[in-house]
Amino acid sequence: MKLWGGRFTEDTDKLVEDYTSSIRFDQRLAEYDIQGSIAHARMLGSTGIITLEEAAQILEGLEAVLADVKAGRVQFRIEDEDIHMNVERLLHERIGPVAGKLHTARSRNDQVALDMHLYMRDAIAAVQAGIRELQTALVQQAQAHLDVIIPGYTHLQRAQPVRLAHHLLAYFWMLERDHARFHDCARRTDMMPLGAGALAGTTFPIDREQVMRELGFGHLYENSLDAVSDRDYLVEFLAAASLLMAHLSRLSEELILWTSEEFGFVELADAYCTGSSMMPQKKNPDVAELVRGKTGRVYGHLLGLLTVLKGLPLAYNKDLQEDKEGVFDTVDTLLPALRLFAGMVATLKVRRDRLQDVFARDFSNATDVADYLASRGVPFREAHAVVGRLVLEAIRRGTSLAGLPFEVYQAASPAFAPDIYEALDPVRVVDARAVRGGTGRQAVEQQLALARERLAGDG
Ligand code: ARG
Repeated sequence: MKLWGGRFTEDTDKLVEDYTSSIRFDQRLAEYDIQGSIAHARMLGSTGIITLEEAAQILEGLEAVLADVKAGRVQFRIEDEDIHMNVERLLHERIGPVAGKLHTARSRNDQVALDMHLYMRDAIAAVQAGIRELQTALVQQAQAHLDVIIPGYTHLQRAQPVRLAHHLLAYFWMLERDHARFHDCARRTDMMPLGAGALAGTTFPIDREQVMRELGFGHLYENSLDAVSDRDYLVEFLAAASLLMAHLSRLSEELILWTSEEFGFVELADAYCTGSSMMPQKKNPDVAELVRGKTGRVYGHLLGLLTVLKGLPLAYNKDLQEDKEGVFDTVDTLLPALRLFAGMVATLKVRRDRLQDVFARDFSNATDVADYLASRGVPFREAHAVVGRLVLEAIRRGTSLAGLPFEVYQAASPAFAPDIYEALDPVRVVDARAVRGGTGRQAVEQQLALARERLAGDG
């Protein structure tokens, strides 16, 4: 007999039962569901809606069911449709008919909303902790490699040299924004929906504030229709998750490029790579590739939920049951990705040998030659053209800007003096970018200090 079976005279079609049931995936909410029910039952008792004795029986029963769930001793059933009715059935098995009083002044519609808010609160905190772990690894590597200079790229063409630390810290700041977005999302998750009933509220004199306080929420939904149909906080979570995955995917791509023999800037620890069944020499960056690949499913979940919500009339519709799998899968995608990345970055080896003479043949110091002229009164546009011709000349001679004899410089512009060669050194080039936010040593040190402050700021 179904909990809602009163007005039915025929059994549910088996296929319908399977199709509409959510227990396969919402069993993940079991502990939150019971936690919410405990707060609800206590409130029903203290407001006198049920007797204190009944409340005590229900609470004791719920604690026992909770212990069973935690120990993996329960068997969920498809026929009981979802986690809410499975828990109620388990409670009934323990304490008998008084279990039927738990659902007073409540609907599964506000109940499932509560469960998801409780679940998301923990999930967001876990994601934020994962972000902090990765940020910490980035800061440590930046600190350890302050002296390492790598080519910086635009259009994936050599542009200007940058400190490796600067490059790594760029990801720190992306992740800092991600952290802030999840913080925002947590604020709008911090709302207690119970009391909305199915859609219109309840006739019982419940105490919503008590439930809110007991469950540690800061706010109540002020509209019962909104309370049962709001999934904005889930969309926000998926949107924040999508951006986070975009960042991880970009970092993945760079690590994949950088570990290739063509770049050869870094090597990943063996622990974070896999081999080939055929080619004995292979060491593949599978983790980074998978994170890059899994980004698509998170984007998909965001678009999926937005599409579910579009055009839904108020208030609850069964479509809303489709909010869960995508969110759960996103959490399951994010948490290991963050943990793996933290380990992969922390154990990254920088190939100083390969980076030593990486600038010997490139022109990534060309801007500095133009800047040299500009700071000696030559209009920058003109300086740009002069240096362009010098680059062409160097290519023709098969050398670099440093390899051109001084006569060539003199012939190109009378503003050149022999000290031009000092301006060509990659370390000089980098440190000349002393502007706040630039890649010069002191600027990067300042940046590192700020990054550390952010990490310490969490307390
Ligand atoms: N399993 C449902 C869900 O996830 C719970 C709410 C069901 N409410 C209802 N009236 N059928 O959305």
